Amino acid sequence: MNEFDLAQLIAPALVWYDANKRILPWRGIRDPYRIWISEIMLQQTRVEAVKEYYARFTAACPDIAALAAIDDDALMKLWQGLGYYSRARNLKKAALVMMERYEGQMPHAYDEVASLPGIGAYTAGAICSIAYDLPVPAVDGNVLRILSRVRCDERDIIKEATKKAVRTELLAVMPMHRSGELNQAFMDIGATVCLPNGEPGCGECPWAVVCLAKKTGRISELPNRKKAKKRRIEERTIIVIRDGERVLLHKRPPKGLLAGLYEPLNIEGYKGEQETRDLVRSLGLDPLHIASLGEAKHIFSHIEWHMKGYAVRVADAADYADKDGYLLVEKQRIIEGFSIPSAYAAYMRDMR
Ligand code: ADE
Repeated sequence: MNEFDLAQLIAPALVWYDANKRILPWRGIRDPYRIWISEIMLQQTRVEAVKEYYARFTAACPDIAALAAIDDDALMKLWQGLGYYSRARNLKKAALVMMERYEGQMPHAYDEVASLPGIGAYTAGAICSIAYDLPVPAVDGNVLRILSRVRCDERDIIKEATKKAVRTELLAVMPMHRSGELNQAFMDIGATVCLPNGEPGCGECPWAVVCLAKKTGRISELPNRKKAKKRRIEERTIIVIRDGERVLLHKRPPKGLLAGLYEPLNIEGYKGEQETRDLVRSLGLDPLHIASLGEAKHIFSHIEWHMKGYAVRVADAADYADKDGYLLVEKQRIIEGFSIPSAYAAYMRDMR
């Protein structure tokens, strides 16, 4: 890395932040619990979408004790639509650890925070700097992008080694006060000025006079990121089975993709109508009518589901008992208490 002095970025970033920071529900508070929840949610989706989830989540679980005690299905329901459900499970796991070891409080030492389930260097840095004013950085993809530009840093930001090196470089210059605001200044510069796609707003940037990428016309080339590996494509057939107002749901296994969540029948490969009827019969149900629900796609981080869907109406199965994790549930109960992953949104719109 060239000899760029990171310390020169700090004062302009803080002055800019005072005048330009975004007003957000998790700003201006020092409660580490709320900061933690907001940071985990912000790793999933856009700030605008997080606002609603954050309000709902903190109303249902106002503190660590409430989170530790929440029922797993209720937790999944609160997280529905955010994706990466393991993050929600880790929230509860970490809350249980804090109940057991830290009297229901977020610990104060960075290393203890960073060793909690689901909390890595970024989240620990954000919590400890914002809640406790500890001089630690919070390096995410946005921070890597803006620093790669301002320094004309060619290192591949996808590589863990790059993240670690940038963290160490920032740690050496973190100020003893306002570290949380500095980290959030970086986030806001990344989100509102030095944008990932499209024209960055260099006219508004507190670093415009020192930015090496601007000086050399290389903004659109940076950051350097190696292409991500190609996703595996899986063909699936989704069968939404109803008897009157009840819908057949299946609980996914406790490990792996969408672990423990409820779904309609999800079969490997593309099936035709006759095969679909046979599958429904094999569950002990009597198919009366079948209709195509068309095709849909869902993209996970490493897998793409290419789906064909069917709606199947079956004869009244009033005595249908729970079978290998399959159960018939009234639509209203699904809406209120079951978390159906977004992957099925195209086929179960009225139940999510
Ligand atoms: N993105 C991640 N954390 C954030 C925060 N605290 N404020 C704004 N954007 C963020």
